[in-house]
Amino acid sequence: MSTARHILALLRSHVEGEEQQFYSAALQMAAHEARLGHGKLAQEIRELIDQAKARKSVIARKSDPIPLVQPKGDLANLVSVRYPDTRLSDMILPSELAVRLKRVLTEQRQGKRLREHSLTPRRKLLLVGPPGSGKTMTAAALAGELQLPLFTTLYDSLIGKYMGETASRLKLIFEAMIMTKGVYFFDEFDAIGTQRQNTNDVGEIRRILNSFLMFLENDQGDSLIIAATNHPNLLDKALFRRFDDVIKYKLPNSDIIRELIKTRLISFEIEWKDWSQIIEKATGLAQAEIVRATDEAAKQAVLSNSGKVSQKSLISAIMERKEMSLDE
Ligand SMILES: Nc1ncnc2c1ncn2[C@@H]1O[C@H](COP(=O)(O)OP(=O)(O)OP(=O)(O)O)[C@@H](O)[C@H]1O
Ligand SMILES: [Mg+2]
Repeated sequence: MSTARHILALLRSHVEGEEQQFYSAALQMAAHEARLGHGKLAQEIRELIDQAKARKSVIARKSDPIPLVQPKGDLANLVSVRYPDTRLSDMILPSELAVRLKRVLTEQRQGKRLREHSLTPRRKLLLVGPPGSGKTMTAAALAGELQLPLFTTLYDSLIGKYMGETASRLKLIFEAMIMTKGVYFFDEFDAIGTQRQNTNDVGEIRRILNSFLMFLENDQGDSLIIAATNHPNLLDKALFRRFDDVIKYKLPNSDIIRELIKTRLISFEIEWKDWSQIIEKATGLAQAEIVRATDEAAKQAVLSNSGKVSQKSLISAIMERKEMSLDE
């Protein structure tokens, strides 16, 4: 890309308020300069980006409405809270998935307009897909985009030993949703749906599931409720109907694999032009595994002082992750 193209990309992301894209355009510019042998200039650009990011996180922390959203009392054991700064643009998504998630954001952002016409924005989502395919990251990205706190349910303390205990704890969480708008994330949702945690009583498990369904159905608030699972076939069919959207995640195809690796290596030089071998080896791995393997190869480039990521190191990192995932 020429310098003018980089400036255009910077301006466009600035105008559209796409911060993440702004940083990645700036990083691309640094990489471009580095390739031209302008190491000092590239370094300066990278330092400015780091400074900008550091300053932003200080401001963001100051403006957190902390007193309101620190869970108190019994609730404190049932959910953890964080303020993700993940954005949807940090995710490499197939277009149909990106469209579904953007639709959630648009409806949320335009919620007032919809409500004026007695319509409700979608906000009860079930994310289904294999491990490491980006479900948790999606919950974080939606919270980050909407600048809402992300509350994650802690099942260890939710599922109780005694009859009715779990249901009354669930009730606390659903009450909190009304009090404090946020993204409420039920990760590994099968824990409620099917697993027999501290209890062996099948009847009790049905009761837990039924109370969840009832709470979900009756909930009229405006918090987002996101559940995620790896095992859709374990879940009760009745559950699916209760959600506004069931969003499916898949292992990455070759385009996504290439984009995942490219984005991760945006500030590095890469040795290869032909992607076919890398893609062939990486096929079958989840997004999370590919990102990790790429980071491994990038680390080697840094530690070997070559500054260049080699195809060999990336492929061997990919193979290593493949072996690990087969061991599981
Ligand atoms: N679409 C994506 N784009 C970029 N990075 C991704 C994507 N999906 C996953 N990752 C990377 O993989 C990591 C793990 O993904 P995540 O925890 O969201 O997976 P998950 O689907 O929740 O897995 P699990 O079912 O095991 O909980 C993320 O932190 C991120 O680094
Ligand atoms: Mg997860």
